[in-house]
Amino acid sequence: MKICRTIADLRTTVSGLRARGSVGLVTTMGALHAGHLALVAAARADHPVVVATIFVNPTQFGNPTDLEKYPRTEAADLDMLRRAGVDAVFLPSVDEMYPAGDETIVETTHLANMLHGLVRPGHFRGVATVVTKLFNICGADAAYFGEKDYQQLQVIKRLVRDLHIPIAIHGVPTVREEDGLAMSSRNVRLTPDDRVAAVVLHRALDRAEGLARTGASAESLLALIEATFATEPRATLRGCDIVHADSLAPINGQIDGPIAILLSADFGPADNRVLLIDQREIGK
Ligand code: PAF
Repeated sequence: MKICRTIADLRTTVSGLRARGSVGLVTTMGALHAGHLALVAAARADHPVVVATIFVNPTQFGNPTDLEKYPRTEAADLDMLRRAGVDAVFLPSVDEMYPAGDETIVETTHLANMLHGLVRPGHFRGVATVVTKLFNICGADAAYFGEKDYQQLQVIKRLVRDLHIPIAIHGVPTVREEDGLAMSSRNVRLTPDDRVAAVVLHRALDRAEGLARTGASAESLLALIEATFATEPRATLRGCDIVHADSLAPINGQIDGPIAILLSADFGPADNRVLLIDQREIGK
């Protein structure tokens, strides 16, 4: 597995690897877990060459403490990627990605500034900007993203369409712990008690899905989710959005057609707050 730290080195490496065929890309911020390996496996199933990136992107963090506390586990990550059969890994520095004088941003103006984008202002602009840079640097044929980050996936699909970037975007189903908690690099920051409490996200989605399948209204799903969170004092529900699955437009009243429920919740004390998200697509 080739390790590249500069754009020039990655470009040379990818053009050499292209002799084997098409290239699948998995972008990450490191602290890898089984969810990332599912993305690598999906890329591997479709492409003879797989490239991964590890870059903790500062522009998508609103809160400096969150950026500072983001887990960094480079040696273990490289080991996992090597064992998963990744061909090349790109680990750029912040200066390599954002050289002095960098001023260009990419923003999906509508999709980025709704739902989770309201809880984390600027977050999706940071994601869109870095992902566009990584697509341009790697020149891959396809890229793979987790469905857990549902809004992120829609933002990336939209920017690729709008900017005519020649890359196919694939969503990969969420990988979960045995008790249903969605795998996330942030989970390691939860205290043992908060780790148990965090399953409330999955529980609320299960209950809401059951109710949605009886033909209930969006308002009754919201009430059920809020009531489920009320039973878990360690959790603060930050966002609960019931939206059309593709446009992410809010739904009021009777549910008609495929929907997505997007949840975000905080766990832990003010000085170590961990924001987790989860989602459920229903009827797609
Ligand atoms: O989902 C992530 O890990 C990040 O948001 C991404 C897509 C790698 C951009 O930094």
